[in-house]
Amino acid sequence: LIRPRVLAAIKIASPAAGEIATVADCAYTNSWISAKSNAPLPFGDIQVRGLLQAAKRLKLDPHQFAAAVIEHLDLGDIGTAKVDGPGFVNIRLNDSYLENRLQEVFWKGDERYGVEEVKQRVIIDYSSPNLAKEMHVGHLRSTIIGDALHRIHRFVGSEVIAQNHVGDWGTQFGMLIAHVNDAETHVDLDQLQGLEQLYVQAKVRFDAEPEFKERARDNVVKLQAGDPEMKEQWLKIVDVSLRHAQKIYDTLDTLLTRNDVCGESFYNDDLPKVVEDLTACGLLVVDGGAKVVFTPEFAKDFGKNKPVFMVQKSGDGFGYAATDLGAIRYRVRTLKGDRLLYVIDNRQSLHLRQLFDVASRAGFLPPSVSAAHVGFGTMMGRDKKPFKTRDGGTIKLAELIAEAQERAYVLAKKKDATRTKGDPFTEAELKDIGNKVGVGAIKYADLSKHRDKDYMFDFDLMLQFEGNTAPYLMYAYTRARSVARGAAATAADVAASTTVESLTATISTATLAPSTSLSPSSTPTPQAVKLAHHAEHNLAVTLLQFPDELNTVLDTSLTHHLCTYLYRLAQAYTQFYSVCPVLRAPDQETRDSRLALCDATAQMLKTGLGLLGISVLEVM
Ligand code: ARG
Repeated sequence: LIRPRVLAAIKIASPAAGEIATVADCAYTNSWISAKSNAPLPFGDIQVRGLLQAAKRLKLDPHQFAAAVIEHLDLGDIGTAKVDGPGFVNIRLNDSYLENRLQEVFWKGDERYGVEEVKQRVIIDYSSPNLAKEMHVGHLRSTIIGDALHRIHRFVGSEVIAQNHVGDWGTQFGMLIAHVNDAETHVDLDQLQGLEQLYVQAKVRFDAEPEFKERARDNVVKLQAGDPEMKEQWLKIVDVSLRHAQKIYDTLDTLLTRNDVCGESFYNDDLPKVVEDLTACGLLVVDGGAKVVFTPEFAKDFGKNKPVFMVQKSGDGFGYAATDLGAIRYRVRTLKGDRLLYVIDNRQSLHLRQLFDVASRAGFLPPSVSAAHVGFGTMMGRDKKPFKTRDGGTIKLAELIAEAQERAYVLAKKKDATRTKGDPFTEAELKDIGNKVGVGAIKYADLSKHRDKDYMFDFDLMLQFEGNTAPYLMYAYTRARSVARGAAATAADVAASTTVESLTATISTATLAPSTSLSPSSTPTPQAVKLAHHAEHNLAVTLLQFPDELNTVLDTSLTHHLCTYLYRLAQAYTQFYSVCPVLRAPDQETRDSRLALCDATAQMLKTGLGLLGISVLEVM
């Protein structure tokens, strides 16, 4: 709402400055001032960035330039602007405006909380493990980030098609089938664990025995040609692996189902056609027996080697690159995606740059469709080395999740033991808390970091109840909700209010008594919000920042912006709660208004965490 008005004002003040796009960038000042400082924000709520630099570049007097911008700035009843310092433009939002917006966003059934609807078809390639092996930590990040993006795009009104591009084709299957078929190898193909052991054995033989290698290759050729016996064995391996993956998807509470699986094998029949098309448009060349497309743009990445996109190695079947060309064509032409996202490890960055380049040149990826690599760094252990078991093996995802849940359960139990009021949790409740907090912690730890960077996996850090963690935010939600429960209780019994109030006041240490008295997420009838205290004002501004933050995530696929936002919201709420008594507010009007702010905070935290794939608990 503010940005276009500021841009218009800048254009009038100086057309040349209006050309410099970034000058209209508005920043919420509460994001750089500690929400813990108990004072009104000295600079107003929003600062227009880039004006000083623009003035300098255009050799204008910065103060005069800022004054001219303000003169032409029409904010209506939204707020007021003033020049600060050497030439900053700072905007303070009017309380009456904020009060009305809160009403519209939180209590009029706006499912998107002020975010504008986007109607796109978004194809998200995520998770995409290689089958015939257990899933390991390498696939965790893709699954978590992809699933959050899935939820976020769906939330704004887009249609999302998930594509689980599993590695279900190629040499490893020929190898595995060859090994399974050997008389001395007795295996239960219904058990993936057995399958993984087999895989390791098969690989050893593949590397050591030429005869075995030959047979494995033969199997692949047969499989690709549609040999029914091969196909049956292959299907069995695929099925066991996918069942294993689905179990993990369910434990992690992701949206992925079997229907989203569209693996490499799916494109097998289409690949000769891909090659034909690439040849017809003159891109495909035969180089030393291999079929390649030259990508001179990326020569630097290849050093002394020829910069090629390897479509088919000599004497081999189609490879990873060919399959991805088939897939991108399918996503554009058949699925009719407007936007394609590939949530894949940064180590595949060159592959994706080449893919997009070749696909564009071949006409598979028209300019009207955007394609982006949503890359991410490596998951590191506490020793800052790629995450491995103590003896250097790969860590299994199922075990990792189970450990997080167990640790969270132990923490919840410990916390429960120190509870002074109310009944202790039952064992089943503690298990449920452990499961949700454990999964939430793993997801949040990943999503809250800049995804491009390597990230350190640390159980202790992610399970802390303080700081930018899932437990902290989940707990902030239960606190905000407990105030509403307190209000409901006081309606019946005034004396109860003191209990709840004093309990919730010591937020970081208190454990709330389980309560069944209030149904989850019951939204109170809209009450008029009156913002009188600066902490209320700041909480309101923060609550209404959500659309800007979510749009940033939509543009950049950087989920940490949403996490940081939720963390700031929790802090603004804590600040508000510590200086503005709710249940013991001076009068009924103030009390209702503050209860409404608690409710809005709870709604926002629940919605925001939900977009990250984290479900909240009413009590914990
Ligand atoms: N299966 C691949 C791997 O584990 C990831 C596939 C990603 N998706 C794609 N379209 N290439 O490395």
